[in-house]
Amino acid sequence: MVEEKFEKMSTEEIINYITVTFHEPIKKFFEEMTPKIDKIDKEYSWKYSKIDLLKELYTQFHRELMKHLTKEDLEVFPSVLKYEKVLEDGLEIQKNKEVEKIINQIKMQNDHVEFQSYFYSIIDLLNSTDMNWKWIEDFEYVKDKFITMWEETKVHSMLENTYIYPKGVLLQKKLQEMFS
Ligand SMILES: [Fe+2]
Ligand SMILES: [Fe+2]
Repeated sequence: MVEEKFEKMSTEEIINYITVTFHEPIKKFFEEMTPKIDKIDKEYSWKYSKIDLLKELYTQFHRELMKHLTKEDLEVFPSVLKYEKVLEDGLEIQKNKEVEKIINQIKMQNDHVEFQSYFYSIIDLLNSTDMNWKWIEDFEYVKDKFITMWEETKVHSMLENTYIYPKGVLLQKKLQEMFS
């Protein structure tokens, strides 16, 4: 079972796993998709009006997902690890200042729901029957990549929703209580 594997891992191991398995590939995914979407926009938007919407959705999605990943990489993940170390090893911490409400579980989980709807809308557009997508290799390629990334993002979100955010919130609460 997939879950069983994660149950046995430490928080640090799960965070490293998420970073390597999901965060790095997502950054590469966007690096590859941005020129592809630009190419589709340039070459086919005169013919298919829905491409404007595709480009707009993609641009928003890219911006929002990168914002979320950066927050995880720079704030949420380091905080979870720091809180855990402080509580487990009794390390010093600079009072409340360092335990400010960094991890907002509801906001992070809502972002995940939002990303699923971006995937859904973009794939739906790429499947649109009033466009001759299937004859155009670029469209098919982009669609396949989005479908694969959509599936991966479901696991990615499940791991963070189950093992990382709740743990971070719990540790954050414990530390805040210690200082109150
Ligand atoms: Fe993530
Ligand atoms: Fe996330």
